[in-house]
Amino acid sequence: MMSRQFYTFGFLFFLLMLAYPMWGLSQEPLGNPKEGKVLYEKHCANCHGINGTGDGPDTQFLMVQPANFHSLASRSKTDWDLMTIITFGAAFSPMHGWADRLTEEERWDVLRYIRLLAPFNPMARYQP
Ligand code: HEC
Repeated sequence: MMSRQFYTFGFLFFLLMLAYPMWGLSQEPLGNPKEGKVLYEKHCANCHGINGTGDGPDTQFLMVQPANFHSLASRSKTDWDLMTIITFGAAFSPMHGWADRLTEEERWDVLRYIRLLAPFNPMARYQP
């Protein structure tokens, strides 16, 4: 009697444990890379380069070189790390914040495009 209830609840709990990560995986990441591409090419490519390698035509005028998004250093940063820099800028650098020029949605779009060019790679943090 007791053990049957135990198994029923156990089984329901098991189903819940299966469903939870599936729910997480089914969430769309924020930002639309198609919109982001247009914004990137208009606002970012002159410095960061059309492919995100940090070698756009305006780099010759800059004291601080733009980030190469394909570098291990950039790829190992989380979306939130990069979003913070896109929103507020980097100190003492020509990378100013974009909060006053791009809406939050546009900033997610452009970030999603950067991550399409150079996907997040958490392992980079642990490589020598
Ligand atoms: C005037 C040139 C310039 C423009 C335009 C520019 N950036 Fe940057 N960006 C830089 C520089 C320089 C850095 C490096 C900052 C540092 O290391 O101090 C940087 C850094 C970044 C980083 C941080 C990368 C990392 O690994 O830390 C992100 C993300 C970024 N830029 C996104 C953008 C986006 C998105 C746009 C367009 C909306 C943009 N940038 C436009 C010059 C520019």
